[in-house]
Amino acid sequence: MAASKQLHNVPAFPWGSALTKEDLNTERGFVFQYPPFPALDGATSGDQSPLGPTAIYFHIPFCSYRCSYCYYAISLKDDEDDTKRYINNLATEIDRVSERDGLTKHPSTIFVGGGTPTFLSLNSTELFLDKLFDRFETENLIEFSFESDPTTITLEKVRLLRDGGVNRMSLGVQTFSDALNQLNQRHHSREDTVKAIEAMRKGGIENLNLDIICGLTGETPENFRGTIQLVIDTAPPHITMYLFSFRPQTIAFSKTHTSKVPLPPSEEDRIGMYLYARERFLEAGYIQTTPNCFIRAPEFEQIHQRNAWDSHPLIGFGNSAYSFTGEIVRQNVRPSKQYNNLIESNVDTTEVFKRLSHYEQMIRYVVLRFKQLNVPLAEFMDRFGFDFLELFSGQVSNLNDCGLIEVSNGKVSLTKSGILYVDDVCRSFYSDDTIENLTAASDVSKRSPLRASLV
Ligand SMILES: C[S@@+](CC[C@H](N)C(=O)[O-])C[C@H]1O[C@@H](n2cnc3c(N)ncnc32)[C@H](O)[C@@H]1O
Ligand code: SF4
Repeated sequence: MAASKQLHNVPAFPWGSALTKEDLNTERGFVFQYPPFPALDGATSGDQSPLGPTAIYFHIPFCSYRCSYCYYAISLKDDEDDTKRYINNLATEIDRVSERDGLTKHPSTIFVGGGTPTFLSLNSTELFLDKLFDRFETENLIEFSFESDPTTITLEKVRLLRDGGVNRMSLGVQTFSDALNQLNQRHHSREDTVKAIEAMRKGGIENLNLDIICGLTGETPENFRGTIQLVIDTAPPHITMYLFSFRPQTIAFSKTHTSKVPLPPSEEDRIGMYLYARERFLEAGYIQTTPNCFIRAPEFEQIHQRNAWDSHPLIGFGNSAYSFTGEIVRQNVRPSKQYNNLIESNVDTTEVFKRLSHYEQMIRYVVLRFKQLNVPLAEFMDRFGFDFLELFSGQVSNLNDCGLIEVSNGKVSLTKSGILYVDDVCRSFYSDDTIENLTAASDVSKRSPLRASLV
């Protein structure tokens, strides 16, 4: 029986004349930024002059295993020399960006993501923290987050991170089912997850996020209900819940195409799971802050993400890291090997770069506001000098007809269906230029040919 029939009725979607089911398709992935990475062009940088509270991101690409569904820029390494080399290169990149653009020494938030940053050994973690605090001061630092998975957490490591200033940790749980972990190539058990959570709490991390995925390969309504019950019983301050995204570049995708593993639950079933869990979290007293995030109390809202989505400067270091400062967005090269080679050859690591026009900045604002559930109309006018409803009248009328947004109390807010299809609501605002660049970028060979010789 379809999971959605047991878990939640998926509302019949009011497919409008302007948007078809093909347009609204979650298989095309999450929107995290605007413009999306493949739509950036050029490979130059500089002139960033970051102002205001600055968010710093570090990408640590290492993992002890590759989950079958993962499409991140990761690297399977267990050689201490490799991790130390990468950390030294991160330090060099900070020095170069400081010299080139002038970089604040006083970030307001630091987020260390990956990959699995807690993959670093105690020695490498110490090296990373030393290099970091040789370069940044902590007096304005209000949030310092580290991502982790259950196989790389020990009490000693949590204490080292806590002593190093980390005050928020995020744990990739995905599911509490051992069978599902195995099927999706995650090498940990439910017991490992429970122990990791205990270690974090014992080690002094109160602000804890758990990542959950709706609709992993093999997910059943019973499993899913069990996972959600355990998440609620654990009462984490912050929950991030993703819909399983089935992407062509993953092991899961290629294996189902050679019939080695079953297809994941249908999109409708995944949405049914999302709706079921959302309702359970809201009943349990959680507050929804973004389509994916739920918090136990307002003080647990993730400041780093909110600031970045409010268009504060964000500077990313490491392979695949993304930056936004002033009018400029840029992203580093994706493979860590290429990143290391570029740093060591004293060549800029930027792969794609764009200076946003006023119009593109407005779209960026709209996209990132919808990711926070609504667009405040007066703020849009103050910031850009245009009436949002007039400027985007075509999109507003289509999305309204489709039941995805509603206009009230000075805001354009996502409806319940709009929350489910937020990424597609966002995509409907993309500029022609961005859509053209996205289409061109689907030909991978056109991206950064200059860099290929250095790999
Ligand atoms: C960098 S990982 C988190 C830390 C650690 N590497 C781990 O997996 O436990 C970021 C999160 O992205 C989510 N994720 C990765 N691939 C996904 C996919 N194909 N669909 C949905 N969520 C995905 C997972 O919830 C994962 O915890
Ligand atoms: S989901 Fe996390 S642990 Fe799994 S491969 Fe991706 S980054 Fe690594």
